[in-house]
Amino acid sequence: MQDGASGQPAFAQPLQDAKPQAFQCGAFLDEELVSVVTFTPETAPDHAEGLPAPVLASQWHLRALATAPGHEGKGLARQAVAFGLKAIFAAGAPGSTGVWLYSKESAYGFYQRLGFSSAGAPFLTDSGPYDLFWISGPLESQDISATR
Ligand SMILES: CC(C)(COP(=O)(O)OP(=O)(O)OC[C@H]1O[C@@H](n2cnc3c(N)ncnc32)[C@H](O)[C@@H]1OP(=O)(O)O)[C@@H](O)C(=O)NCCC(=O)NCCS
Repeated sequence: MQDGASGQPAFAQPLQDAKPQAFQCGAFLDEELVSVVTFTPETAPDHAEGLPAPVLASQWHLRALATAPGHEGKGLARQAVAFGLKAIFAAGAPGSTGVWLYSKESAYGFYQRLGFSSAGAPFLTDSGPYDLFWISGPLESQDISATR
C-alpha cells in the first residue's frame, strides 16, 4: 500500500508485534526510509496522575515516531503519521475511533500542529515532562494531510 506526495511514497506494513493488528508507517526520501511510526490497537490506560483518557470505543496507540537526523522539518513525520491516521479512520466507526500517544515536551508542538489535543496534565519522568495527546476521527480533509 503506497500513497505519496511530491514523489515521496509513504507505506504501511504489518508489524511483528504482540498485537496482531499493529502496523508501521514510513516515509521515504530519495529511496531512503527517513521517518517511521507505529500504530498498535490499545486503549489508553488509566493513570494515577489522573490523565483523562479519551472516551472512544476503538483506540490506537501511536508510538516510536522518529525522523532520521538531518531530515527533520521536511514534512516526513507528518506524511507518515497522516498515512496511518487516514487508514485507521477510514476503517473505524465514525466518532468512536481515536489515536492517542505520550509525547515528550519537545514534541508537543509537532502533535498540536497535526491537530492532536493535549490532556493538559503533564507528568514528570526521568527524561522530563510527558503529556497524553489524542485525535479522533473522522478527519476533515483540512485537519491533516500528507502535505503542508
Ligand atoms: C518530532 C519529530 C518526529 C518531527 O519530525 P519531522 O519530520 O521533523 O516533522 P515534520 O517536518 O513532518 O513537521 C510537521 C510540522 O510540525 C512542525 N514540527 C516538527 N517538529 C516540531 C517540534 N518538535 N515542535 C514544534 N513543531 C514541530 C514542523 O515545523 C511542521 O510544521 P508546518 O506544518 O508548519 O510546516 C522529529 O523531530 C524527531 O524524530 N524527533 C526525535 C524523536 C522524537 O522526539 N519523537 C517523538 C517522541 S514523542
